[in-house]
Amino acid sequence: MEGFFDIDDNNAPTQTSGQLIAALIGALPDPVLIVDQMPRVVAANAQAREVFPGLSERDALAFIIRAPKVLETVSLVLEGAERQSVAWHERAPVERLYEIFVSPFAMDGRPAAVLELRDVTEARRVERMRVNFIANVSHELRTPLASMLGFIETLQGPARNDAAAREKFLDIMGEQGRRMARLVDDLLSLSRIEMNEHMRPQAPVDLVSIVRHIVDTLAPAAREAGAAVNVAAPARAIISGDADELTRLAENLVENAIKYGGAGPKPTVRIDIEPSAGGTLLSVSDDGPGIAPEHLPRLTERFYRVDTPASRARGGTGLGLAIVKHIVARHRGRLEIESQPGRGATFRVRFPVHTDKN
Ligand SMILES: Nc1ncnc2c1ncn2[C@@H]1O[C@H](COP(=O)(O)OP(=O)(O)O)[C@@H](O)[C@H]1O
Ligand SMILES: [Mg+2]
Repeated sequence: MEGFFDIDDNNAPTQTSGQLIAALIGALPDPVLIVDQMPRVVAANAQAREVFPGLSERDALAFIIRAPKVLETVSLVLEGAERQSVAWHERAPVERLYEIFVSPFAMDGRPAAVLELRDVTEARRVERMRVNFIANVSHELRTPLASMLGFIETLQGPARNDAAAREKFLDIMGEQGRRMARLVDDLLSLSRIEMNEHMRPQAPVDLVSIVRHIVDTLAPAAREAGAAVNVAAPARAIISGDADELTRLAENLVENAIKYGGAGPKPTVRIDIEPSAGGTLLSVSDDGPGIAPEHLPRLTERFYRVDTPASRARGGTGLGLAIVKHIVARHRGRLEIESQPGRGATFRVRFPVHTDKN
């Protein structure tokens, strides 16, 4: 390696090739190991020592990576194969997935190999989420679509001259069409909110008037469910926010409380808005059947429902609480869900204090 780095001014430290290699792999962001022909580990950067905490010099590679496929790949490269990559699935202490790039190298004239570990755990998780999401959306759209196409066929054929059937089928088709429209609307709001999530809304907004407006809008639904909706709030509660998004948030929470809380003889939805020095608290409670604890952590996932047919029958898309979660995140607030089966559910959103930027 003499002369390769062209170090000839007097300030530059002279480095042996071992030190040079250590410095070089130390500068790389990913975990890197160098193995000799045996193969034993002859160099490792700090990132690699984090992955293999017990690592000491000259450890056999087979001792720290017990995956036959990885060892086989390393052997191939040591025998003269070109650079290649191999997946390594590590289950302990935490589950991680690495892609290991194995490249040929030479040390003191003998074959060696460089192993570079790329952590692809997060990338795989995101990829899996994306695939699931597309599968879910397709499934949610396919059902109403299939039903509409079926009715169109019936109306073109057997029911062509049946006026009563036509009325009935058109009603059902209208309902399925509205269901698809709701789904597409919810998907669009979700992607818009997610796209802007890094920008916190700054405008002063009165949470009380937004909530009161939504309670008025949902009055017919409450009447139909026989539910009383009570609001306890001061005259105003100013927070930094986006009025449209906060309207969506209040709509989803109050609508859920009316839809899923309306079981008893006289269901009651209680809405509290409490401004304080630490921020503003919005809570929406119902006295319905509540939610079993095992469902609570997953409730805000897209398309997650405790009872899918019941949600569909009430016009649900399974996206409402996912939208709520993203709106809360964008407003730098916190969402808490509390419920005991049989004793109702409470959804609390804490908004930070409004800071006037002027
Ligand atoms: N107040 C509530 N009481 C009981 N269950 C609820 C309540 N709010 C939401 N849920 C449950 O959470 C699920 C997800 O809610 P959401 O994301 O709004 O979807 P959707 O209402 O379209 O089904 C609902 O399907 C329901 O099972
Ligand atoms: Mg909902």
